[in-house]
Amino acid sequence: MNKKELEKLKNEVLKRELPKHIAITMDGNGRWAKKRFLPRTAGHREGVKTLRKIVEVCGDIGIKHLTVFAFSTENWKRPDGEVSYLLKLLREFLKKDLNTLHKNNVKINIWGNISEFDSGTREEIKKAIKKTEGNTKLQLNLALNYGGRSDIVKACKNISMKVKLGELDIEQINEDMFNSYLYSENQPEPELLIRTGGDYRLSNFLLYQSAYTELWFTDVYWPAFNEEIFYRAILDYYKVDRRFGDIQ
Ligand code: FPP
Repeated sequence: MNKKELEKLKNEVLKRELPKHIAITMDGNGRWAKKRFLPRTAGHREGVKTLRKIVEVCGDIGIKHLTVFAFSTENWKRPDGEVSYLLKLLREFLKKDLNTLHKNNVKINIWGNISEFDSGTREEIKKAIKKTEGNTKLQLNLALNYGGRSDIVKACKNISMKVKLGELDIEQINEDMFNSYLYSENQPEPELLIRTGGDYRLSNFLLYQSAYTELWFTDVYWPAFNEEIFYRAILDYYKVDRRFGDIQ
């Protein structure tokens, strides 16, 4: 697609009310690399480039919240070399891109339990959060050591603790307040979840938050995902009729 056609597609996207929050499962890095006879790590490295581009596009068109599944609680099962490479890429991203992200008014949030990461990685994460905490244009939520079930269990534990301490009455527990105990806190639920790489499942991503989310799947591997496909996902989202259980 040439520049002019891409611009046309972008204008189509901008004609309607954009989703406030888009979530992405960035899958297929390994298979992208394998197809090219490259090590899996090369796929992850290329995947960071796609992420960088999509963050830029979100800021440009005015998406307010972007949540990406960068490291799941299940990813620890991978060979040590791959895990440490993924964490190295994360540290590099947080170091190299921090000034640009900050300049572009992007606020970095982490969803997940980072206490299990090494101290070097935790330091880079803390720096990035601190530097960008006042930013308001785009909230970039990096789901790191994240699992949807553990997100819900964590919320239950914290709520139970408050009940036990007498700070909260059971009657006060409802869906909205429960939401505020999740990593997503008070950010809106994603209207659209994109999954690349050809699998059709949630894989423990945003279980509570995605109750009414439109799911959009593509066979394209994450490193090959691009601005054009991103716009097509949003245009498809516009076509669906969101009734939230109501009738039309
Ligand atoms: C899935 O591909 C992707 C991941 C497990 C990690 C996603 C990470 C990145 C895009 C880069 C690092 C992130 C940051 C924030 C710098 P896969 O390995 O499961 O691919 P496969 O299904 O083809 O094996």
